[in-house]
Amino acid sequence: METFTIPTETFKVGFIGAGKMAESIARGVVQSGVMPPHRILTAVHSNPTRGTAFESFGVKLLPHNNAVVEDSDVVILSVKPQVVKDVVLQLKPQFSKKKLLVSVAAGVKLKDLQEWAGHSRFIRVMPNTPSAVGEAATVMSLGGTATAEDGELIAKLFGSIGKVWRADEKLFDAITGLRFLGYNFFNGTIFIPKHVSGSGPAYIFLAIEALADGGVAAGLPRELALGLASQTVLGAASMVTKTGKHPGQLKDDVASPGGTTIAGIHELEKSGFRGILMNAVVAAAKRGRELSPS
Ligand SMILES: NC(=O)c1ccc[n+]([C@@H]2O[C@H](COP(=O)([O-])OP(=O)(O)OC[C@H]3O[C@@H](n4cnc5c(N)ncnc54)[C@H](OP(=O)(O)O)[C@@H]3O)[C@@H](O)[C@H]2O)c1
Repeated sequence: METFTIPTETFKVGFIGAGKMAESIARGVVQSGVMPPHRILTAVHSNPTRGTAFESFGVKLLPHNNAVVEDSDVVILSVKPQVVKDVVLQLKPQFSKKKLLVSVAAGVKLKDLQEWAGHSRFIRVMPNTPSAVGEAATVMSLGGTATAEDGELIAKLFGSIGKVWRADEKLFDAITGLRFLGYNFFNGTIFIPKHVSGSGPAYIFLAIEALADGGVAAGLPRELALGLASQTVLGAASMVTKTGKHPGQLKDDVASPGGTTIAGIHELEKSGFRGILMNAVVAAAKRGRELSPS
């Protein structure tokens, strides 16, 4: 079968859907120098301020989706999941074998995307909210005829907004359960927000808020407590990723005999801290499977 290689030095990326996710990917790509803004294209759907946001860092605006697909080697579908099918069907006649298609739509499977598009040079990518600060945890899965080079190119693009892993698509529900947990403040349940966008690592936000509350309860001013809590979480996460040490080892390293840390850990363990987090991930993964259209 004939394969068309994407020209790595000159290729153009077009976003269908000029929303928040598209903007954070485009900004990340430009800021990291992976590609210049004039090789990134998009079109405004109904809200002109979205166009202004993209133009402010040099992205080229085209009059409509068709022009974006026409002029792009890589097309990133970044519309909401409920409109993906219509958009793909409408653009289908333009999806030649030369084009690499990418979808960031949460919960929309490669099997369906490929069927709607009549095109299997597809890559499904799942970024998450910290993409806006260059700290996304992105997972990608390659469709039928996407090549290893296609995978490398997309990993490079999304590597500019955080870290990228490859995984079999059948693991995406479990991955969603781990990364996209939401929390219902009204009834105290854990859930996956309907279309996932922007929910982010809500349980860590909850943990930061609770740590800050603890600081206030112990006598700290609110602002100081919140600053210390969020920096502590950031520092702890960086230690896990940068040292490569097991978190249990890092915990042991800071828990001295009879000290304050082990006293706090004892309280957490009495309340089932680890079991609660594990239950939350498993419940969210199960809910993800229930919500999945097929
Ligand atoms: N945000 C996240 O953290 C996140 C994380 C993971 C995955 N995702 C995925 O990323 C996708 C986009 O999410 P988002 O948060 O960026 O949403 P968003 O900000 O609402 O962006 C969606 C954009 O699509 C545009 N649009 C709607 N219909 C269109 C059409 N027919 N043609 C072209 N553009 C159209 C909308 O324009 P108008 O508003 O002008 O109608 C809007 O600018 C979703 O599929 C979501 O699941 C997002």
